[in-house]
Amino acid sequence: MTTATPSPSPETVLVAVAWPYANNHMHLGHMAGSYLPADVYARYHRMLGSRVLMVSGSDSHGTPVTVRAEEEGTTPEAIFQRYHESFLGTFEGMGISFDLFTSTDTANHREVTQDIFLRLLERGYLFEQEEEQLFDPKVERFLPDRYVEGTCPRCAFEGARGDQCDNCGATLDAVELKNPRSRLSDATPELRKTTHFFFRLSAFTEQLRAWVEPQAHWRPAVRNFTLGMLRETLPDRAITRDLTWGVPIPLDGEQYATKRIYVWFEAVIGYLSATKEWAASDLNRTGTAEDWRVWWQDPAARTVYFQGKDNIPFHTVIWPAMLMGYGDLNLPYDVPANQYLTMGGSKASKSRGGVVWMPDYLERYDPDPLRYLLTASAPETSDADFSWAEFLRRNNDELVARWGNLVNRVLTITRRNFDGRVPDAPAALAPESRDLLERVDAAFASVGGDYNAVQLRRALNGAMEVASAANQYLDQRAPWQAVKADRDHAAETLFVALNVISGLVSLLNPVLPFTCQKAWAMLGHEGDVQAAGWHRTPVLAGAVLPEAAPLFKKLDDAIVEQEEERLGR
Ligand code: MF3
Ligand code: ZN
Repeated sequence: MTTATPSPSPETVLVAVAWPYANNHMHLGHMAGSYLPADVYARYHRMLGSRVLMVSGSDSHGTPVTVRAEEEGTTPEAIFQRYHESFLGTFEGMGISFDLFTSTDTANHREVTQDIFLRLLERGYLFEQEEEQLFDPKVERFLPDRYVEGTCPRCAFEGARGDQCDNCGATLDAVELKNPRSRLSDATPELRKTTHFFFRLSAFTEQLRAWVEPQAHWRPAVRNFTLGMLRETLPDRAITRDLTWGVPIPLDGEQYATKRIYVWFEAVIGYLSATKEWAASDLNRTGTAEDWRVWWQDPAARTVYFQGKDNIPFHTVIWPAMLMGYGDLNLPYDVPANQYLTMGGSKASKSRGGVVWMPDYLERYDPDPLRYLLTASAPETSDADFSWAEFLRRNNDELVARWGNLVNRVLTITRRNFDGRVPDAPAALAPESRDLLERVDAAFASVGGDYNAVQLRRALNGAMEVASAANQYLDQRAPWQAVKADRDHAAETLFVALNVISGLVSLLNPVLPFTCQKAWAMLGHEGDVQAAGWHRTPVLAGAVLPEAAPLFKKLDDAIVEQEEERLGR
């Protein structure tokens, strides 16, 4: 394609990030799949001047949390609290810049969920129906979702769970599993009758198809998967469960007391309830509680949903159908779901071993090198494999050698030879100087277009190519030699290089916010790099350059073996 991407302009953007089950710490797969890309995108849009709100929260309900609580002999609240705290620590350590990271365990979320439930009921989109569910006769309990495991009816994977198959991504009903096994006892599950509310998804098939069809900007994998689901009339889905942990059914009647709204029906409502919570809270410093409408009712606002590919059906089919049924709320603008991050070839999951937990990572390393690696090889179009060798290589060859040394070398030579100040450049720059400055300035349109399109690998690549060009320019003009023979020549080189670095700091900031802020200060700029906007901030002749320190640490080869050992390899 030869058509240039038009330079993006500021938008109103809701960065809606998948709600993690609060039943374990986060691992690298979560970072790569949802949180990091969402954060990079949000940071870019904030620099562009967009009105950004980035929200998510702990998914505190459902069987993932109750199963874990039962395993440990504690309460679901205790489990959810423990991991909610852990998530907050991970986000802080990794620089994942939520405007609000709440949870589904709030009164606000319960109210918003119940309101949606009641309106859908009133409009005839919910109905009650008796069905058969798996029941454990030994412990005398129904076995919703993750209380049962078995063989996937689609792909024959033997470790499928009652809610979903991790192997093929199919969303399942527990009764569909072949050879079901209870996780509560060794009894063979039997079928028992129970009454549940169902969501009339079938009524939305046509409308969904007509909506998805023209979404040319969606990732092909996401759009095709969704259209595949919509080829036939969608089955209606049970949206309540026989459980006592979760959002209660907002209707009178004893028969409802032992049932709760299904976690997948209520968690997606979190995007809306979290926006409302933010608007009504002190976090919304200058506005009012009605500000949630900015993102949900202005038709020009974009809601962009970040998640791993196993969550696609909930965000491109079920949640949109709920929104259609409810009315007056924006449908998703984009759902840039990622493929999986694999560890030595298989999906990162604790059940299969080989997981790098975020709290462990953050104990040993800085955030930016991981942000860099997971963006440079993001699983945007296919699964991407993580290895410590690659982590080391990217850190040492790209962050340290290509980018960090560029900054360090230019700042050090300039400070040493020009009295700690930015030297003056001649009015007429050499052609290669002009070219390089033009190149970095032009990158704001192209790299910005890639960030905006959630093509984050390409965005980072585009910025790093400018860094390579800057290194070549320096090698060619060798200011460390010129400074003795032709001071003006060296002054021009360093002036231009400092300005190119200033541009690069802004271009890279969405991916490398910690080190870019440091580099920003080393260039003598004030305040936040983010607040300076999406353009190159000029470095002016005569400005004082503070002392420079290396941005990145070279990592020792030995860490590869150490870390592989920790993974049990
Ligand atoms: N809790 C789910 C998971 O970890 C994701 C829910 S995303 C939601 O897979 F927004 F739909 F809640
Ligand atoms: Zn399967």
